Amino acid sequence: MPAKLQAECLTYKIKEFMNKVIKITIDDLECMAAKGQYIIDAAKDNGIFIPTLCNYPGVKPKGSCRICTIKVNGRLMTACTTPVAENMIIENNIPELQDLRKAIVELLFIEGNHFCPACEKSGNCELQALAYRFHMMVPRFPYSFPQRQVDATNPKLIKDQNRCILCKRCIRAIKDSDGRSIFAYKRRGQHVEISIDPKIGKDLSDEVALKAMDVCPVGALLVREKGFDVPIGERKYDKTPIGSDIENM
Ligand code: SF4
Ligand code: FES
Repeated sequence: MPAKLQAECLTYKIKEFMNKVIKITIDDLECMAAKGQYIIDAAKDNGIFIPTLCNYPGVKPKGSCRICTIKVNGRLMTACTTPVAENMIIENNIPELQDLRKAIVELLFIEGNHFCPACEKSGNCELQALAYRFHMMVPRFPYSFPQRQVDATNPKLIKDQNRCILCKRCIRAIKDSDGRSIFAYKRRGQHVEISIDPKIGKDLSDEVALKAMDVCPVGALLVREKGFDVPIGERKYDKTPIGSDIENM
């Protein structure tokens, strides 16, 4: 290709690229982001960790847990549902937000019954990992010790409502081959809980059951008769804190 044409091609490609990216600032760091991207993904692409719980890659964000709260131009917003905009000023790693996030983690712990030492998800649990990351010792709120049931009627999965944080990740991410949700909410208010559709749920494949366990950020969905394939101490967050994979990219 002649040099002039080559230069024109390069200029065109640079222009095309510049049309697709915008500049944002996260904690005084200038970052590039793709237009339309959610802040949470833009931060990740720039090696910045913003904690999440209800958000799950590839699933439409819901913005329900509020753990990803950031400040955009001084206003509190959720990073998982807010798209980037040109010259946005974002605050993430500031004491006020870190304490707010820690308080949310504490609230989730006192609101349920989280028996971490006896949980198959220990070491792979995002809530537990965030509690470690925020150095949670004793929650500032009193425990509520709710009465909740373990449902072991499904042939493939055990549902322990004690640990459910109602993030709806299972409802949004796990569908059958016809696109129908296998999980749903039942009851209302403080009695709301996850239910597994008895008709669709009875034919769950091993693969879908395993995916449901993985999608659940805590140990509320566990595959039956499966445990300790990976020993305690060697699991995902046992050795490296949650978010370190993003920060060390
Ligand atoms: S069962 Fe797990 S994935 Fe489903 S809502 Fe509860 S915590 Fe979230
Ligand atoms: S991760 Fe953003 S609100 Fe839950």
